[in-house]
Amino acid sequence: MSAAPLPPFNREAKAKLTENPNPTFKYGQKVEATEDGERWSEGEKAGWTVIDTSKEEARKIYTLMISGIVPRPIAFVSSLSEDGTANLAPFSWFNQVTHSPPLISVSISQPTSGLKDTAHNIKTTKQFTVNIISEPFIENANITSLDSPANVSEWEISGLTKEPSIHVKAPRVKESAFSMECELFQAVDITHPDTGKQTGTLILGLVKYIHLRNDVLNERGTVDFAKLKPIGRLGDISYARVGDAFRLPRPEWAVEGEKIKEFLKTTQ
Ligand SMILES: Cc1cc2nc3c(=O)[nH]c(=O)nc-3n(C[C@H](O)[C@H](O)[C@H](O)COP(=O)(O)O)c2cc1C
Repeated sequence: MSAAPLPPFNREAKAKLTENPNPTFKYGQKVEATEDGERWSEGEKAGWTVIDTSKEEARKIYTLMISGIVPRPIAFVSSLSEDGTANLAPFSWFNQVTHSPPLISVSISQPTSGLKDTAHNIKTTKQFTVNIISEPFIENANITSLDSPANVSEWEISGLTKEPSIHVKAPRVKESAFSMECELFQAVDITHPDTGKQTGTLILGLVKYIHLRNDVLNERGTVDFAKLKPIGRLGDISYARVGDAFRLPRPEWAVEGEKIKEFLKTTQ
C-alpha cells in the first residue's frame, strides 16, 4: 500500500542539529530584518481568510484545524475491552499535560454511531498503553486506523507484536522504542454547546511506567530524536518526520534582564 506518485522515501536523510534560523537576533528586532523574515512578511499581501466557526461546516473546521495545528505527536493506543479483546489505534490529538504527576491527554472524537472502541475500552477498563511510532513501522501503525468490523483484529493485520505490560492489562507495542503504561486519570465527555450532543472524549492518562529502548537514549539518559525517528501528523493524510532541528537557549531574566532593560530605554 502506498500513496503514489511521489519520489521514493528519502533513506539518506539524517536528522541533525543546526544553528537556529536567525543567530544574530537582537531584542525587539523586527521579523522583516532578515531575508527569510522579509519574504515571510511579504506573504501578508495575499490577505487573510477569517473563519467564523459557528457558520462553518464541522468537516471544514476539522480539515482546517488538523492542517493548521501541526505537526502533532501521535499516541498509538493499545487497549483491551472488558472481555479481553485487544484494540490498537493511532490518535494525534495527543500531548503531555504535566510531568508531576506524569499525565498525558488523548482526545477521541465520537462518530454518530457511538464511542470509538478505544474510548469505550479506556472508560470501562481504565487502563491503556501509549506507544510512540517510529519511521520503520509507520505503515504497520497506519493500517490500524482502519474502520474495520469488530471481528477483524488490528493487531493481526498490523504485523506488530504484543508485549505484556507490567502494570496494566493492555499490552504495549514491542516494536515501539518509547511506551507508556497508563491508568485512566479522568475522562471528560465533550458535549457540543449548540446541540448538547456528545462529540468526543478527552482522556487524561496517568503514566505509571515508561519503557525505553536503550538504543534510542543519549548519554544523559534522555531520548535522542535522531535515533527515535518519531512520526508526527500533518493535515489530511500527510505525516512528518524529524529533519534538521536547532537549539535555541531559553532566555532567563537573571542573565538577560539588564540587557533587556537597556534595550527598553532605547525604545522610549
Ligand atoms: C495518524 C492518525 C491519527 C488519528 N488521530 C485521531 C484522533 O486524534 N482522534 C480520533 O478520534 N481519531 C483519530 N484517528 C482515527 C482513529 O485512529 C480511527 O478512528 C480508529 O479506527 C479508531 O479505532 P477504534 O475504533 O478501534 O478505537 C487518527 C487516525 C490516524 C491514521
